Amino acid sequence: MSDENLRLEVLFDEKQIDSRNRELARQIAQSMGKDILVVAILKGSFVFTADLIRALYHAGCRPRVDFMTLSSYGKGTKSSGKVKVLRDLSESVEGEKVLLVDDILESGRTMAFARDLLRSRGAEDVRICILLDKPGKRIVDVDADFTGFECPDKFVVGYGLDYAHYYRELPFIGHLVPED
Ligand code: IMP
Ligand code: MG
Repeated sequence: MSDENLRLEVLFDEKQIDSRNRELARQIAQSMGKDILVVAILKGSFVFTADLIRALYHAGCRPRVDFMTLSSYGKGTKSSGKVKVLRDLSESVEGEKVLLVDDILESGRTMAFARDLLRSRGAEDVRICILLDKPGKRIVDVDADFTGFECPDKFVVGYGLDYAHYYRELPFIGHLVPED
């Protein structure tokens, strides 16, 4: 896909994302308390997580943060269906109240896999916080406890989300439209 034939249409701008993050952090603080282990699923959620933990600070939480790299996508835009742990957490989750953070809930395979894994390792509670929900695409039965935005059924990029490793740096969420 060459850049010249595509233009970016903004779906959620910086202001919308910022105010939604503050609202999410308030909800999370209220229902989970201040001692949370945030588990960010890399790579897609790193920008969202970085903003969310600072919003959590303003909401009175003192979260710890760990990272896990999971992959179900190759270089393209279609999920392969099989989730793999590419890099594991560095600490135990036993007895922890975990907030799993990911960028997009689509088929649900990634989040169901992560949730079941952390439960099997003895986490006391596992809640799911998702930046974007594509509810029409669910294959596995999993719902988010905290959702940023409902996302149209389009391939989106920016704010940590990539297309073939590009566009993660965009401060907004957009989708690529072919130039006519
Ligand atoms: P699921 O396992 O089908 O729920 O897929 C979720 C994962 O697929 C997310 O963590 C994203 O990394 C990736 N993904 C799904 N839709 C998009 C998209 O529109 N843009 C970028 N990545 C996506
Ligand atoms: Mg991802």
